[in-house]
Amino acid sequence: MRKEAHFATKGNRSPLEAPPALLERLASVDSTPSGGPALVAAIARMSEAYTRGRDALTEVGESREGHRARLRFFLPRDLPKATRPLLELAERGLLPRRTGLRLLDLGAGLGTTTLSVARALSLTGADGTLSVLAVDADARALETFARIVAEPLEGFSPIALETRAGRLPEALGSIRGSYDLITLGLVLNEVTDPLALVTSAARLLADEGVLLVLEPALRETTRALMEMRDALADGPLAILGPCPHHGPCPMLPNARDWCHDAADVPLPSPLDTLASEAGLRDDRPTYAWLALGKRARPIDVYHRVVSHRLPSKGKLELVVCAPEGELLRARRLDRHASDANAAFSEASRGDRLVIEGTRRGDALVVGPDDAVGRA
Ligand SMILES: C[S@@+](CC[C@H](N)C(=O)[O-])C[C@H]1O[C@@H](n2cnc3c(N)ncnc32)[C@H](O)[C@@H]1O
Repeated sequence: MRKEAHFATKGNRSPLEAPPALLERLASVDSTPSGGPALVAAIARMSEAYTRGRDALTEVGESREGHRARLRFFLPRDLPKATRPLLELAERGLLPRRTGLRLLDLGAGLGTTTLSVARALSLTGADGTLSVLAVDADARALETFARIVAEPLEGFSPIALETRAGRLPEALGSIRGSYDLITLGLVLNEVTDPLALVTSAARLLADEGVLLVLEPALRETTRALMEMRDALADGPLAILGPCPHHGPCPMLPNARDWCHDAADVPLPSPLDTLASEAGLRDDRPTYAWLALGKRARPIDVYHRVVSHRLPSKGKLELVVCAPEGELLRARRLDRHASDANAAFSEASRGDRLVIEGTRRGDALVVGPDDAVGRA
């Protein structure tokens, strides 16, 4: 695949795709006899709860059908959500380098986020076993998680799992030690005081550690994360991504904007069929993310693409978040496409670019001699 071509994978498969070994394991853990229509109905119901009927999320998610939909569809579909930011952090030298990382997975559910971490570590060639403490209010989900990782999985770093059933933030009180990685995968929107949970969790972070938050790419949940990011920017934690700056979020003033990412990766079979039968409109994994650390913000300079591609007659535009903390409309006329700015033609949402160009108001105009490269 174009974006992560430097990470090794077999054949033409994207490294972000759920590896076959995972799909086989999930099928073997699913104790329900295969019933295609029932699974499709459960996926549709769960999707409705995730996107529109969020009041029923806990009830649907913990039901037998919801559990099965999460196991067989949402877990493998959502695998790239943490993997992509983690691969970026690894590329930027921001992941702790010690052998055998310690992960605290908060709101771990069936283990999607842990598996994403183990996948990213395997892709980057990291050594050692990932030691995980997984916390969730749903004891049944944690039991299933334990069954999924009971044996090593090809394509994933080995996982040594300890689970703890309990409610957050109270469950943090009994956790000791420090962690190289703390993840809050798609859980903050389900708790009453997300900022307090993040700041309490960050106390358990090792000095070189990274706290990664993922949230659904819905406008409401993403904007809540953007607001939390601004509140945290005034405190001691460094914002490691996705933002290329430490200033106020330039997207917040416009209520129609929300900063999210989309992993441009096809759904493997049979997830593609299940998605279309369940009537899911956009089956790409979309998410918002925020990575925080204790060390000073790195001085790597990049523009983050925060829009989809905006082609129009004779030109291509991309909205980018700039290192100066501004939103710019980067623009290149088609007749100015050149080898120097070829990366502009291929860029898409979430990419990091270094863009040369001329400022005209809030536009950044890329000429034929301006260099555009991947950061
Ligand atoms: C949408 S799932 C996400 C699971 C997994 N992290 C992922 O990325 O797919 C949210 C999980 O958070 C858990 N959860 C929600 N509120 C919680 C709370 N206050 N304390 C502990 N777990 C909670 C739910 O039980 C559920 O398993």
